[in-house]
Amino acid sequence: MTPPLRSGREARDAGPAPRAARAHGKAVLFGEHAVVYGAPAVAVPLPALAATASATLRASGPPSRIESALYAGPAEGAPAPLSPVVEAIRAALDLVGAPAAHVSIRSDVPVGRGLGSSAAVAAAVVQAVAGAVGRALDPEERHGLIQVAERAAHGTPSGLDARAVVAAGPIRFHAGLAAPLALGAPLTLVIADSGAPGSTAEAVAGVRAMRDARPHTAGTLIDRLGSLAKGSTEDLASGDLDALGARMTDAHGLLRLLDVSTDALDALVGAAARAGALGAKLTGGGLGGCVVALAASPAEAEEIAGSLAAAGARQVWTMTQQATTSIPEATR
Ligand code: PMV
Repeated sequence: MTPPLRSGREARDAGPAPRAARAHGKAVLFGEHAVVYGAPAVAVPLPALAATASATLRASGPPSRIESALYAGPAEGAPAPLSPVVEAIRAALDLVGAPAAHVSIRSDVPVGRGLGSSAAVAAAVVQAVAGAVGRALDPEERHGLIQVAERAAHGTPSGLDARAVVAAGPIRFHAGLAAPLALGAPLTLVIADSGAPGSTAEAVAGVRAMRDARPHTAGTLIDRLGSLAKGSTEDLASGDLDALGARMTDAHGLLRLLDVSTDALDALVGAAARAGALGAKLTGGGLGGCVVALAASPAEAEEIAGSLAAAGARQVWTMTQQATTSIPEATR
């Protein structure tokens, strides 16, 4: 799990940070795309999909280096998919006043699947770079640095991913800030990868183009997605999984009308429904990537996961978030 979030003062008092740092993937339950236009959103952390990084500073001489499964070599020679990470390393080095670093990265978060890969890796990397000078970032510094990577990845990030990849539990995100969510019942989710990468930048640009061309239609869809996100927090708090699932399926229909779904995602949503899911939708930017389905129990989740694999999902994960007894104080 991620370390508990701390206030700036506590962070300063806490002494040198460890050199290896960790963040995790996330799934958006409600509000993707609408959140870019100020609507609320709901996201859950996926702690099983970890991104870790460690860093050592280079006082002078050779430039920053990256070691990862995708690439090993000088930061400036890194391939385009790593450019958000390179930007994050640069920004973190600037913040801590260091010239260069050697950064090792390991990530289980699949790339381009709407599960927060770029934000999770950036979160781990910036904490590792700061940790290498014995500095713990306060939550807002860290958020700002993750957003540097997110801007490099897709231009106008809402900040949802940057908050969710370091959150200890489900969050409601609004106007740049995250608050922890109460869960009145355990939340069991199945996430299935369609196998096709989706470009968040392209999806966000497509929604913007629709909003410019057909402001009334797109505006109505965005408003309805925002209302579903808002209402979902009441379902989550009361543990009304049937209502929550119905909202997820409604959200998928709206996201389809926003033209960010694909045939493969629609097929997985249909397969989840036939397998007994309480609801299902695409998650994240869309145009590829993953669906998230709500299961009534962990046993049901296994059934649904099997059906999604049989329906062609490349990878399937299940997770249960326990009901909250009290909300952690955390959480930006
Ligand atoms: O990066 P993804 O694909 O998980 O999508 C993030 C959610 C969006 O609302 C599509 C973009 C954003 O900036 O919030």
